[in-house]
Amino acid sequence: MCGIFGYVGHESKAAEIVLEGLKLLEYRGYDSWGIAVKQGKKLVFEKHVGKIGDAKINLPQSSLGIGHTRWATHGGVTEKNSHPHLDCTKTIAVVHNGIVENFQELKTELIKKGHKFISETDTEAIPHLVEENLKREGFSSSVRDAFNLLKGLNAVVIANAVSKEIVAAKTGSPLVVGIGNKELFVASDFCAIVKHTNKVIFLEDKQMVILGEKLKLISLPGGVEIQPNIQTLDWKFAETEKGKYKHFLLKEIHEQPKVIENIALNYTTEINHLAKLIDQAFGTFMLGCGTASYSALAGTYLFSRIAKKHVNFSIGSEFNYLEDYLTERSLVIAISQSGETIDVVDPVVQAKKKGSKIVAIVNMLGSTLYRQADFKILLGAGQEKAVIATKSFIAMISVLILAAYSLAKRQIAGKSLLLKAAKNVQEILQEEFEKSLQKVAGELRNKEHIYIIGRGLSYASAMEATLKIKETACLHAEGFAGGELKHGVIALIEKGTPCIVFAPNDETYDDIVSNAQEIKARGGFIIGIGPKNNNVFDRFLPTSDVGDATIIPQVVISQLLAYYLALKRGIKDPDKPRNLAKSVTVK
Ligand code: F6R
Repeated sequence: MCGIFGYVGHESKAAEIVLEGLKLLEYRGYDSWGIAVKQGKKLVFEKHVGKIGDAKINLPQSSLGIGHTRWATHGGVTEKNSHPHLDCTKTIAVVHNGIVENFQELKTELIKKGHKFISETDTEAIPHLVEENLKREGFSSSVRDAFNLLKGLNAVVIANAVSKEIVAAKTGSPLVVGIGNKELFVASDFCAIVKHTNKVIFLEDKQMVILGEKLKLISLPGGVEIQPNIQTLDWKFAETEKGKYKHFLLKEIHEQPKVIENIALNYTTEINHLAKLIDQAFGTFMLGCGTASYSALAGTYLFSRIAKKHVNFSIGSEFNYLEDYLTERSLVIAISQSGETIDVVDPVVQAKKKGSKIVAIVNMLGSTLYRQADFKILLGAGQEKAVIATKSFIAMISVLILAAYSLAKRQIAGKSLLLKAAKNVQEILQEEFEKSLQKVAGELRNKEHIYIIGRGLSYASAMEATLKIKETACLHAEGFAGGELKHGVIALIEKGTPCIVFAPNDETYDDIVSNAQEIKARGGFIIGIGPKNNNVFDRFLPTSDVGDATIIPQVVISQLLAYYLALKRGIKDPDKPRNLAKSVTVK
């Protein structure tokens, strides 16, 4: 959720290095931010509310600094609540990702001991705890003892101006250490570090690292020194630019044909292995949250239709209540762009305890799910900078389509279908087509509700389209299976109510068109999406008939519609929708 960056080294530009790192991490949290650097034996800081954007910093030259982009949990979005948080002596500063569940008790005790709190955050208990411990022990043991007291899943980076060290520890959210030439980095995402070095250590849960003149890794809670597993990443830093596009969201939507083609042409070995694992498993469960959950939902239809195989699906946060039937022969497929979503990581940890095999389908190399999994598939969608998931979803769907075809021993047919879908996406991304979408967006801009229906695989499209419109355009949309209309939702249809109808050229066509008729009969305004026009549609947005891959053009049209709807509704930065974070590492 929050972005963390820390630097200790020979450079005097710690503030600038940290600021630059935070800019690369801003997608993780963007309600406020702050940086603290060492000046003599004290820490000085700057804190700001709002996005970093092109911010400059006015801090002294320093060789040690930490910073944070915040996504608020405890305490409102104010300068005081933004990180870093300092102790009373201003020698200790803390940036934190997670929730200290017992902060209230800790705070009460610390206040009794005379510590002064400035913010409403749970985080602020940490520097004061360290300060208290420092009265009787060294810095690293002070942090270790403080961290061992914290309840919940947490990642902290703590700077000490006196010992000139940074200590990082975690039980939940990700932290990566970068090893440079006489300089060390720590961040919540390696993308912010690879510019400086590709030698990294992915910190495991219950590990703590001390970064000073040397690097020392210890295990928690005991403090036994362990040998770090230093990895050299085969990943080149590429500054992601918007190029000719106004927003990353639009750019990433336009990158989708390439993402699909890459999977169609280069994933044979991995996909065959995935298909084999599904075939051998006694029960397969796909897990995901938000957009990723809709790819998993689509997966259940895809495996059933194409491979005649029953594959289960659950929203990540619900799986802990369903996991009783997991065994050593079960297969759990965790689907996640970030690979960090706690609601997926958590059930995966439980499933591992039961001996189930884990597959991760993720976009982020080295992420928690990537490391947890027995078998992993990297989506290869490239960095998704917009908070709204687009190309990662299309990549997930492409992998699942190909896996279903591979399971049915028809991988070549699956590949050509994907290539056909990529071609159709290219057609949708032509100026002419986008203009027709902008027109429809104009008609919908002042509506209060939009209903979206589909059946079968297109039910998953309806759900994903709904989420895109809600989060991108901040407009209430509701998606449901067409058959459910008469079971309640039809009560909401009145004159002019817009309804998007996914009508592919498959067995659902006649029934979904009947549902559209029922809406129309009550005054609804119908926007049809599919390969065949119909009299019932007031507006028609055509896709090619790409069979089992029809979800791809359907969703791409929805992404673009959501984007243009956001612009028409005056949303300034569709890349960073209000209240959302790219990587959801708290429950
Ligand atoms: C929607 C969106 C979210 C994510 C969800 C899961 O556009 O981005 O719904 O899909 O938070 O995230 P990952 O895929 O990182 O597990």
